[in-house]
Amino acid sequence: MAATSPIHFDVEHLREAVLRTYDRVARDPRGDFHFHRGARYASEYLGYDPAELAELPESCTARFAGVGNPLQIGTVIAAVPGMRRENAGPCPGETVLDHACGAGMDLLLAARRVGPRGRAIGVDMTPAMRACAQASAELAGLSDRVQIRAGYMESLPVDDGSVDLVISNGVVNLAPDKTRVFREIARVLRPGGRLFLADVVVQRELTLDARENPDLWAACVAGAMVESEIPTLASEAGLVDGRVVQRFDCFRDTPAEARVAKDLFIQGVNFYARRA
Ligand SMILES: C[S@@+](CC[C@H](N)C(=O)[O-])C[C@H]1O[C@@H](n2cnc3c(N)ncnc32)[C@H](O)[C@@H]1O
Repeated sequence: MAATSPIHFDVEHLREAVLRTYDRVARDPRGDFHFHRGARYASEYLGYDPAELAELPESCTARFAGVGNPLQIGTVIAAVPGMRRENAGPCPGETVLDHACGAGMDLLLAARRVGPRGRAIGVDMTPAMRACAQASAELAGLSDRVQIRAGYMESLPVDDGSVDLVISNGVVNLAPDKTRVFREIARVLRPGGRLFLADVVVQRELTLDARENPDLWAACVAGAMVESEIPTLASEAGLVDGRVVQRFDCFRDTPAEARVAKDLFIQGVNFYARRA
């Protein structure tokens, strides 16, 4: 069952389950969840720089729930022979969009890199997460360049061709209509603009039973793409050069791993593409 095939549950019901889960993460990040959170997880499992995270407010780092490290993609890509340095970044003065930013940890890291002449726009559907991202931007002294907007990654409140770099961490798996999410990414990117995406992938298809379980969706497992689907979805949306550049064991030691992850070879990947 491919992640893009039709599923039979109510999409609104699924969205409510996802919103309830992340509202709970925003209100009580140390609660009981099927996935890791926080700064220590980010540095020990995903390779974030602990010193850089220590400079951000805990209001965003404690609620981090990504599955990879999208901002590392620029460094990896810059080292690939034949790839142009402009594909790296985020660079000073650029506009970066995090299309489901949660409490804003990646967004604030990007905001620091784009500097005072750049912009970092965060979109999220969960009000409590947006409130954390906004408060964190103010605490970090970055509200001059950070904008938090209410919205969905399937219909972004962002102008056509206005973004240099879209970052994404652990969220495309949560969308039932992944084709639409990739089309929205391509729509908002300027020609040549890049996508740095981290998401959960599986190596073989999930059963329909697993895919129709809303709790497993909200835990970032049931909606995972089969790895080979990502370059296809990206290319159908008009993105080129798509490639997986890094892998992460993001479910290690979680209840999700005990239930399904080992069987499915579920893992986080960093994926790069750019608009033609
Ligand atoms: C797994 S968390 C990841 C958040 C953030 N990227 C991070 O790394 O911490 C999922 C986030 O995606 C948001 N989200 C889920 N589905 C969404 C959608 N369709 N549109 C916008 N935001 C969505 C949730 O509100 C939640 O904040």
